[in-house]
Amino acid sequence: MKVFEPLQHRINQFLAQQLESGYPNASRLKKSMAYSLLSGGKRVRPLLVYATAECAEINLNSADFIAAALEMIHAYSLIHDDLPAMDNDELRRGKATNHIAFDEATAILAGDALQSLAFETLCHIPENPTLTIKAVQLLAQASGLGGMAGGQSLDLISENKAADINQLQNIHAAKTGAILKACVTLPLTFSRKLGKKNHKILHDFADHLGIAFQIVDDILDVTQDTETLGKPAHSDTKNNKSTYPGLLGLDGAKAKAAHHIDQAYGLMDQIKENTNQLRRVTDLIIRRNH
Ligand code: IPE
Ligand code: IPE
Ligand code: MG
Ligand code: MG
Ligand code: MG
Repeated sequence: MKVFEPLQHRINQFLAQQLESGYPNASRLKKSMAYSLLSGGKRVRPLLVYATAECAEINLNSADFIAAALEMIHAYSLIHDDLPAMDNDELRRGKATNHIAFDEATAILAGDALQSLAFETLCHIPENPTLTIKAVQLLAQASGLGGMAGGQSLDLISENKAADINQLQNIHAAKTGAILKACVTLPLTFSRKLGKKNHKILHDFADHLGIAFQIVDDILDVTQDTETLGKPAHSDTKNNKSTYPGLLGLDGAKAKAAHHIDQAYGLMDQIKENTNQLRRVTDLIIRRNH
């Protein structure tokens, strides 16, 4: 969507600057990190950070650090997700995956170093240090055992098995939902404006958004072609993953995604502050074709 272009441009510049300013020397590892970090993508996580910042009236300069940290974790998660030991995919954002363009060891290390860079970046946020520590803790929780990494492990364990709807929801909430939720909870950490009640509404909103995001990803895997996706279509079928279309059928999965998106919009109706961007991001998540 065109409306997001200025913020997508903003985060692209900021990400490049973070990598370059901290680490000016060229190296193979840095090239591999830049290859995945600066290769486009929808930048949904940064957009969600900026949207929350708008609602909570946090300045954009602080939001940049949060948005960048989350996109770095995301880039790392994608590099590892594509590895032969995980989903074994060869295409990402219309280009060879990191381990194909470089090699497996470099791809593993690029993921590792992007994760470190995410925490380093967040530590540079020009905000109160006590709140910053809280944000660092939230980022660690969203990325690690109880969040993305834990969810990815469950996703792999569930290959060739018939996960039930509760198990599937837990996998999706952890592997994808936790990072998307952090895009809301991290900016809120620095908010002086919104009260406790609004925090709770926004947390629930983020939960629905996270689940909807991965259901839509599963749907697109079976409905779109490789060129549109920029990553291999039917990757989930190849790996015999537990997915929503697999469990509920395509129409059932679409209805489930629509349900979570409706809930998310309903929660936005309860907030008096500016939710325009949050609604636009919600719209992007359900309408996207890749
Ligand atoms: C893909 O995320 C991986 C999932 C968590 C489903 P995106 O669809 O946000 O990927 P990019 O960043 O736009 O390439
Ligand atoms: C990956 O889910 C979620 C991550 C934490 C990266 P998928 O394996 O479905 O993501 P894609 O379809 O490869 O982008
Ligand atoms: Mg995967
Ligand atoms: Mg994958
Ligand atoms: Mg997928």
